[in-house]
Amino acid sequence: MSENRKVVHRSTAVMAKGILLPDYTASNIEAVCAFRPDPSDFLIASYPKSGTSWILEIVDLLLHNGDAEICRRASLSVRAPFFEMSDRLGCQSGLDMLKEMNPPRIIKTHLPFQLIPSGFWENKCKTIYITRNAKDTVVSYYQFQQMNLSSPDPGSWEGYLQRFMHGRCLYGPWYDHVKGYWEERKKRNILYLFYEDMKENLCREVTRIMRYLDLSLSDDVINRIVELTTFNNMKENPMANYTFVPKEIFDTSISCYMRKGEVGDWKNHFTPQQSAEFDKVYETKMKDVNIPFRTEL
Ligand code: A3P
Repeated sequence: MSENRKVVHRSTAVMAKGILLPDYTASNIEAVCAFRPDPSDFLIASYPKSGTSWILEIVDLLLHNGDAEICRRASLSVRAPFFEMSDRLGCQSGLDMLKEMNPPRIIKTHLPFQLIPSGFWENKCKTIYITRNAKDTVVSYYQFQQMNLSSPDPGSWEGYLQRFMHGRCLYGPWYDHVKGYWEERKKRNILYLFYEDMKENLCREVTRIMRYLDLSLSDDVINRIVELTTFNNMKENPMANYTFVPKEIFDTSISCYMRKGEVGDWKNHFTPQQSAEFDKVYETKMKDVNIPFRTEL
């Protein structure tokens, strides 16, 4: 993202193709849905704040044999364009960035399964979905929307939590998002990963990603990638920690992108009443699936 001194106005949330999206994504959605990927492209999908950047960095390192220098060639948002992002913020749109890159490209998206262009499945593009337990996701999302001055104003924590619980946050209901990819994962050969598994054993999960990508890297390289992608090391990496986003957009006096990186931080934010209400709604919304989420390790 280029240096931008303009005052950034918070966007509004609008419905597009049945999903609540930031206006700058909604305005772009027809072109995004018409995109034709190359069979060699990689799609990294997630509901926001589930550990997307973590996977992007790992995949870029795996594709470059763990070469830290090559993976510092540009910021993460240049190395892995944000598919549905328009040019509203004074940067190139995701689609324009992709046009200028040669495949294989790493493509980041938060779109729900039903909005992913069919070309990704027709071309059998490797797709990784990363997810995270709902309680930590909503905490991270709230903090992020406060500091991301280009996103709609999140308002109070209580109001935000209610909207998340009842499926009225950006990118649609969390429940539908995680279920959509879960139900399609076998048919579409999607690697479905959990943030909590990565926190539990990063080496094991990096190895799983390597195998899924049909790569065969030495243990030394895998160990190096694990080291380079710990929370503390990524937080120090200016090409991965989002300090490359101008302060007018990400106000780091409010919060930062690499905020805490923990499982169970929700306990510091939910009141006992909020937690009980959340659990009750969650149980109803998720009763038709058995996705093994963990809210603590
Ligand atoms: P927190 O706000 O809980 O700290 P996304 O990339 O999908 O926007 O997700 C951002 C969340 O992933 C943030 O969570 C961020 O700190 C966390 N994260 C990013 N890189 C990480 C890493 N290497 N290890 C653990 N968590 C990481």
